[in-house]
Amino acid sequence: MKVLLINGSPRVNGNTALALKQMAEVFQEQGIEAELFHAGKEPIRGCVACGSCYKTGRCIFDDLVNELATKFEAADGLVVGSPVYYASANGTLVALLDRLFYSTHFSKQMKVGASVAVARRGGCSATFDQLNKYFTISGMPVASSHYWNSVHGTAPGEAQQDAEGIATVRNLAKNMAFLMKSIELGKQRYGLPEYDKRSMTNFIR
Ligand SMILES: Cc1cc2nc3c(=O)[nH]c(=O)nc-3n(C[C@H](O)[C@H](O)[C@H](O)COP(=O)(O)O)c2cc1C
Repeated sequence: MKVLLINGSPRVNGNTALALKQMAEVFQEQGIEAELFHAGKEPIRGCVACGSCYKTGRCIFDDLVNELATKFEAADGLVVGSPVYYASANGTLVALLDRLFYSTHFSKQMKVGASVAVARRGGCSATFDQLNKYFTISGMPVASSHYWNSVHGTAPGEAQQDAEGIATVRNLAKNMAFLMKSIELGKQRYGLPEYDKRSMTNFIR
């Protein structure tokens, strides 16, 4: 089993990285392979709505997004971690996730998602909600912990002092590992749910 972790922060040794590394440690203890990517310093542009991906299933801008798409397709779970910028996920991560989820056509059904928001003080809960939206439009169950997944710290490394935040993300990883393993068993026994035919309406007809 495999989990892909994406860090939106430009600080590769920052607080988001610290939180995601705690999760990666737990995944490894649970026998789950964990691969962590730091995306925050990459020049990742936003979606330009060109529609090229409708035909190809890939983004026309061949950067980290397409590289991560291949890894996401092979993964059983996806963790996205973001530093909180103005009470939202950071811009680079949003650009990446918009393009990753929009351009790829492989099924994400029952891949487990989890998000982590990291802030000095405010905006974690709004960011957590924002990030979970990518999973909940994609047939992905969302793993949770004993608190909304937030970790606090300002200077790199300070998050280590947030004992409750660290416990939250470690236990999130434990729940996520359990969910991924259970879903794997469920898939073997029952197969994936078959969807009804989907019709698209846009409120004008
Ligand atoms: C552009 C910018 C905007 C920020 N906005 C917020 C904010 O809205 N709320 C907050 O508590 N911290 C805010 N911060 C602080 C970061 O969230 C905090 O330093 C966090 O630890 C950064 O995570 P990192 O070390 O993984 O980059 C902001 C920082 C930057 C650079």
